[in-house]
Amino acid sequence: MRSLLGDYLLQRLQQDIDGTLQLRLFRCLRNAIIDGVLAPKTRLPASRDLAKEIKVSRNTVLSAYEQLQAQGYVDARTGQGTWVTDKLPESFLVKAENSNAPIQEKKSQQSYSLSQRGSYLIGYSAASPYQWGAFVPGAPDVTEFPHHIFSKIQTRLSREPEITRLIYSNAGGCLELRQELAEYLKIARSVQCDADQIIITEGTHQAIDLVSRTLSDIGDEVWIEDPAYWGARNILRINGVNLRSLPVDQEGIIPDLDPKVPPKLIFVTPSHQYPLGSHLSLERRKQLIAIARQHKSWIVEDDYDSEFRFSGQPYPSLQGLEPDSPVIYMGTFSKTIYPALRIGYLVVPKKLFSPLRIVASELYRGGHLIDQKALAEFIREGHYEAHIRRMRLLYSKRHAFLINLIHRHLGEDFLHEYNTAAGLHLILKLPSSSDDVLIASNALDQGIKVRALSQYYTKHYSTRQKGLLLGFACVSEQEILVAFGVLLKCLRDNGIHTLN
Ligand SMILES: Cc1ncc(COP(=O)(O)O)c(C=O)c1O
Repeated sequence: MRSLLGDYLLQRLQQDIDGTLQLRLFRCLRNAIIDGVLAPKTRLPASRDLAKEIKVSRNTVLSAYEQLQAQGYVDARTGQGTWVTDKLPESFLVKAENSNAPIQEKKSQQSYSLSQRGSYLIGYSAASPYQWGAFVPGAPDVTEFPHHIFSKIQTRLSREPEITRLIYSNAGGCLELRQELAEYLKIARSVQCDADQIIITEGTHQAIDLVSRTLSDIGDEVWIEDPAYWGARNILRINGVNLRSLPVDQEGIIPDLDPKVPPKLIFVTPSHQYPLGSHLSLERRKQLIAIARQHKSWIVEDDYDSEFRFSGQPYPSLQGLEPDSPVIYMGTFSKTIYPALRIGYLVVPKKLFSPLRIVASELYRGGHLIDQKALAEFIREGHYEAHIRRMRLLYSKRHAFLINLIHRHLGEDFLHEYNTAAGLHLILKLPSSSDDVLIASNALDQGIKVRALSQYYTKHYSTRQKGLLLGFACVSEQEILVAFGVLLKCLRDNGIHTLN
């Protein structure tokens, strides 16, 4: 069994790729000490044990320990082991710099005055420094966007901007964009709405923050899928709710039909479960709506990539299933246009529009109105639909290409059974005995960016599956081919049988 420190180091080594392995290990251990993961006076594992656990040579661990000792983070006592010092070098620095500061202030600086929830969130932080290249999950091909058309509209609007586009918006965002979205969502996603139910946000992350802060209190029960998008889980964590993770099968989330503590909010990805890919069945949709109606809960539907379904009928939204459904629908332009645009939207029941709009204005102030208006024109002139159609075709080819490689070189068993011809990533299933975190870390050492499926589950969930998330949308078939070759070697090096 690997220790918690082993898990921590393997995850951090995946994110820190600059320099030699010894240097990276030193930095990860040093951060563990600074962040309090390794508290003062904690004994570090024996170098031989740690080397075995994280599968590096003993010399690498010894060198990292030596460097920690040289910089004053640990003490080594011959024959007794290595211990984290009780006064860290950082606290010496604070003392020297603030020798005239009041004692109270010195104390708080020495203890890294982060809030408990800030520290907690940092402990769970998972955003990758790598957002581009094979096989970054969920990344669209941003090079294919018709930037020339969009920037022409932006330039025209910026030349003589209306005053209303240069001041804060507290109306829920640009009206023209909300009107275009209402029309688009009715047709493309069967969402039942008018423009006066739409609030523009700076993406899904902000939308989740807004909804959870406005509609739930600290300690409230909130349901989320397991596995789930770590981003959603982290926003809910920092807002202090009591997260209850419910398992997922081929029909999507398995709801608790008779909950002891009713949920305030239920977060789901009904059209394409993230990250496994299943689709929430009609029966489960009805069950969720019934639970929400009975307990006066709100279902929050994250419809993050439904535009990209490559075969069969698109699945309609959960929001549109029943009139006046207790559903808050969230969408984003991060996948259809590009993530850095930071524009997303909420479609909310009429009675929630005013409170959510006011809270959004109080918390974030509204801006980027020229971009929002440019986007409205981009949609109205038909460019958005044309771009989606073109990307659907391109991603469908890349998806088929990767599926074919998996069939040929690994076999069908490696394709997760919930994978559908949709989205921007697929799941490469690995044997339950494999260490997907270590494989992902080894792949990253070779420049291949994959994410381990097991890390999308809550910590102790018993049905946690092993696999890799492979994003196929942002790279050409040629790049997929080369990267897949490197990944295959990595799998072989980790004892996984490949076909050729
Ligand atoms: C499940 C899910 N929802 C939403 C998003 C998009 O978030 P945002 O709109 O904040 O970019 C992502 C991004 O990867 C995601 O994986």
